[in-house]
Amino acid sequence: MKGVAEEIIKSKFCIALTGAGISTESGIPDFRSKNGLWNRYDINEYGYLQSFLKNPEKVWKMLAEMAELFEKAKPNPAHYALAELEKLGLLKAVITQNVDGLHQEAGNKKVIEFHGSFNTLTCLNCGKKYSKEEISLKNLPRCTCNGILKPDIVFFGEPIPTKALNEALELANKSDLILVIGTSCAVYPAAELPIIVKRNGGKIIEINREESELSYLADYKLLGKAGEILPKLVEEVKKLMKIKER
Ligand code: APR
Repeated sequence: MKGVAEEIIKSKFCIALTGAGISTESGIPDFRSKNGLWNRYDINEYGYLQSFLKNPEKVWKMLAEMAELFEKAKPNPAHYALAELEKLGLLKAVITQNVDGLHQEAGNKKVIEFHGSFNTLTCLNCGKKYSKEEISLKNLPRCTCNGILKPDIVFFGEPIPTKALNEALELANKSDLILVIGTSCAVYPAAELPIIVKRNGGKIIEINREESELSYLADYKLLGKAGEILPKLVEEVKKLMKIKER
């Protein structure tokens, strides 16, 4: 833990890549763990844009469940720890694969939503945008033109939002340290980001409950719950900063 804290303090441009694992302690299941979403909903029938277009009512059952969980979810100590790291000037940005908005709620200002966000929805017919607050998400929502509303989240088979992709690539190329937190690193291009940092001579710190597909590349691996590890890491960073100040 001390070595990791030292890496963060001496880094010039540290960013974080987060996945569903950082939100499980907020009550939102991840995707690939045993009680993950893809173990309850077949990814081929619910995870693709085509799945939604072919049978929106069916896919909406999963989306409504997610929306309800997001409604009830609050940031957990892992989210707050990253907000504190940003306040300390040690974390330049969070690139998240999550669509739950919990990083912003915890106070992080620079958050790149790599897989979009559930906060807004778009009409597939006329393109009109809605915020999730102004409609009921219980049943498949429709536009005033009667078109189907799709949440602005990235389904498989959809491109990463251009602005988010460009910003994330620019941040990764500027980073000498990336914290990879709560992600299996199974999905590209998100999983490319730590590889870019490493290729540029930077370091990877992985904080995950178990090994991920990029663990072999990690310079440091802190295995365990993000909600327990990150607050301890921030305490260690603050302790070392005080020592350095003397
Ligand atoms: N603390 C640390 N790690 C955790 C915790 C926790 N409390 N809970 C779960 N994890 C770990 C799991 O062990 C797993 O390695 O987080 C990882 C979550 O991996 P996935 O379920 O694959 O989620 P993620 O990596 O975010 O998936 C990427 O896939 O389906 C798409 O668009 C979806 O953004 C998602 C993408």
